[in-house]
Amino acid sequence: MSHARPLLSTVAAVALSTPLKLRFRPTLPSSSSPSLLSATTSVFTHTATTKYLSSLRYASTLSHSPIPSPLTPKQRRRFPLKLTIPLAALVTGTALYSTSDSFRHKALAVRRVLLAAEAVVVTGYDYKYSLGYGNRDLDMNDLEDEKERKARRSRLHQRSAERVMRMMRENGGIYIKLGQHLASLKYLLPVEWTRTMEPLQDKCCPSSIESIQALFLSDMGHPLSEIFSSFDLTPIGVASLAQVHKAILKETGEEVAVKIQHPALGEFSEIDMVTISQLASFIAYAFPDFEFFWLSEEIQDNLPKELDFRFEARNSARTAANFDRARSQGDPSSVKVPGVIWAQKRVLVMEFMNGSRIDNVEYLKENNILVSEVSKEMARTFSQMIYKDGFLHCDPHPGNVMIRPTPTGSPSHRNFEIILLDHGLYRELSAEFRLDYARLWTAVIASDEEAIKRHALSLGGVDAYELFACILTGRDWDVIQDAKLTKQVRNKEETSKISQGAGNWLVEIADILARVPRDLLLLFKTNDLLRALDEDIGADDGAQMRTFAVMGQYCAQIIFEAEKREAKNSIVSATTTAAKTTMVVSTWTRGLGAWCKAYCKFLYKTLSLDVFIWWIDLGQSNSLLYRFLSKFERFLIA
Ligand SMILES: Nc1ncnc2c1ncn2[C@@H]1O[C@H](COP(=O)(O)OP(=O)(O)O)[C@@H](O)[C@H]1O
Ligand SMILES: [Mg+2]
Repeated sequence: MSHARPLLSTVAAVALSTPLKLRFRPTLPSSSSPSLLSATTSVFTHTATTKYLSSLRYASTLSHSPIPSPLTPKQRRRFPLKLTIPLAALVTGTALYSTSDSFRHKALAVRRVLLAAEAVVVTGYDYKYSLGYGNRDLDMNDLEDEKERKARRSRLHQRSAERVMRMMRENGGIYIKLGQHLASLKYLLPVEWTRTMEPLQDKCCPSSIESIQALFLSDMGHPLSEIFSSFDLTPIGVASLAQVHKAILKETGEEVAVKIQHPALGEFSEIDMVTISQLASFIAYAFPDFEFFWLSEEIQDNLPKELDFRFEARNSARTAANFDRARSQGDPSSVKVPGVIWAQKRVLVMEFMNGSRIDNVEYLKENNILVSEVSKEMARTFSQMIYKDGFLHCDPHPGNVMIRPTPTGSPSHRNFEIILLDHGLYRELSAEFRLDYARLWTAVIASDEEAIKRHALSLGGVDAYELFACILTGRDWDVIQDAKLTKQVRNKEETSKISQGAGNWLVEIADILARVPRDLLLLFKTNDLLRALDEDIGADDGAQMRTFAVMGQYCAQIIFEAEKREAKNSIVSATTTAAKTTMVVSTWTRGLGAWCKAYCKFLYKTLSLDVFIWWIDLGQSNSLLYRFLSKFERFLIA
């Protein structure tokens, strides 16, 4: 009943804050309390409140009051009406709140909307005026003033982020999901924002076991005890949308993970989505330069699917099938997707996975799992999904990826399995998009500025290709331009330059994000999460470069396949349409030439990247051979 207090106190506070000094003496149920507000909140329970309210008695407001009244006779005549309105509001509100579920739902919904609106409006006001008027005493050309301006801006970001984060915590549900999304937008938002939102990624409150039991009963038609012989009441994982319990199926004795949606989500998700969309419109209106509307559109599109676990079950089955097919075609993989046993809208029962979060470095050490291998496998796994399958898991944060030593009978080609969880957020990528995306990455890795420019425009509709490439890679433009993407690790200096850049280029970045296709937005997010994961697992210095190299190989392959198809098509169409033999022969020769060229290019790219990856691995092992070869290399350069 704790959620009941704010409403009641608000109603009581309204009643108390009427300008007239009312002189009524409430007779409290127990020892008297100094104020109506504290008395009201302290006795709030269904029955106690009713009793308490009925025990409120007015004394001394009438003419035969024993206490002399300070009011004039005219004021006294208006008195009963002025008293009646707030008091009636208090009584009606409390009675409806404690007896009617629908009223309570509406009251809480209004409270959520008000909290969200307050945070956004106050923050908007703060940004609008603190950046301009707040800095009027500062000189644009003074260096000290410039420092002060930066410090003020940083404080403004910090207090705004904290205010919004408090509201998200208070409201919970999909606001937490939104906060998590903001935390992952490292390429867009100032570091004060992303850092402040980070705790929302792993500190979610569990729903009460009673509400979980009630939801299970209402959705499945059976109590937990009928389906499971054992059900762990403490959840093994709690996230923004659901919590997961370990259980044993009565029928088969199988260990399972039961994912149950937070019951409160269903109650408020619709109103929350409308609120977020309205607030996004408000931001768009107040700050026309900041194109943030796509963020709310993303939430509107994705959330209903994420809230229906039947989609998740379908996605996970499709991903598992994709990796099985890749294996059968000779592409080994260490991915494991837990099998779904059954799925309902809000309840998902799946195979239980023993293992640990992928960023648990101690666990990796204990099980002799090499971080460099894990990082390489993650790069292969996600490249496979992006370039080959065109069906991408878009939320690979460490809470959604587990790892375990290879169990017997596993098809994994490593000594570990990467377990992909949480298949709620997926994106389907068309063949055309994948090819364009591969060409863009190839250009970025090769530092081909002309090609980057061309593909940034064709893929994202963006002229500002430098900034676009920085968002894509999470690297500084100087590094990309000097072709150091696969040669230089992102160090602290570069990271801080990028986060400062995010603050300084806010408008431009927001503009790019508003233009690019939505698929690309989720790819940006996925890239960012994978990079962060590499950093979290403390992958060696070579990991980032290795990731780019692995991806480069996948890009080379998909480009080769497209060029091969083009060459074949041109040969076929020329053969069928050309009238003369000489023409047929010449088109055949040309087609064959194009095919050979594409194949040589592909071989060169993959082999050179293979050698490159081998070289990084050798460097990390710091073997005798590596030391000898690098000395030899230095000797040659000298
Ligand atoms: N099949 C499973 N086996 C073991 N633990 C699981 C399984 N599925 C989920 N978990 C645990 O529950 C947590 C939350 O699950 P997840 O599917 O990511 O929920 P959400 O969609 O709410 O983020 C995971 O981080 C993991 O610790
Ligand atoms: Mg999750």
